[in-house]
Amino acid sequence: MNNAPTLPEPRADDRFLLRPWRLSADDLALVREAADDDYIARLTTVPAPYSDEAGRDFITRQQRRMATGEAWPLVIVRAADQRPIGVTSVRGHERDQGRASVGYWVVGSARGQGAATAALRTATDWALTELRIPRMELYAEPWNTGSLRTAEAAGYLREGLLRSWQVIGGRRRDMYMYSRVSTNT
Ligand SMILES: CC(C)(COP(=O)(O)OP(=O)(O)OC[C@H]1O[C@@H](n2cnc3c(N)ncnc32)[C@H](O)[C@@H]1OP(=O)(O)O)[C@@H](O)C(=O)NCCC(=O)NCCS
Repeated sequence: MNNAPTLPEPRADDRFLLRPWRLSADDLALVREAADDDYIARLTTVPAPYSDEAGRDFITRQQRRMATGEAWPLVIVRAADQRPIGVTSVRGHERDQGRASVGYWVVGSARGQGAATAALRTATDWALTELRIPRMELYAEPWNTGSLRTAEAAGYLREGLLRSWQVIGGRRRDMYMYSRVSTNT
């Protein structure tokens, strides 16, 4: 795996930027708010309950994942006030098969502003072109209307229901699979 691709053009659209994690008070505040969200805490490895030490460990792990090319976790920053409000992360573990998956979350106080859509579209365009991954996948639970609409707004097509696909919160869940594929394959 190429460990040092050029990072995405950071401007997700005029209102949002994408950048790597930083060990900063702002990014720790983002981890803290995410840890208070039951669903984000179940879906991800954000430390819940939150502590500054666990928050720093979390950020260091994200930086390490990016350095090794295991994943490209990018913080979504609102341009107007430079506040970190969420994450989109491309995971490359099936890159040798021409596939990668992407996840995303936005903290509750910043939802409904188009951040997830802009970030997902930018990260996906980047993975398809810069990383030359032919097929991008994402998974979302059928009840998660916000996530399904985000996927569709970012150009993903629903392919089908994967039954009992993934453990979330200690229970196996059905997930819809969505994909975006490179137009030149
Ligand atoms: C899902 C999530 C990322 C959406 O983030 P967001 O920044 O609010 O999304 P956007 O503002 O870009 O909205 C995208 C679309 O979803 C719709 N939407 C967002 N939240 C919604 C909700 N709760 N119910 C219905 N529709 C919703 C928006 O109206 C928009 O639709 P449109 O393009 O048709 O207008 C956010 O709610 C979240 O982080 N949830 C918890 C973690 C999660 O579920 N992550 C995804 C795992 S697969």
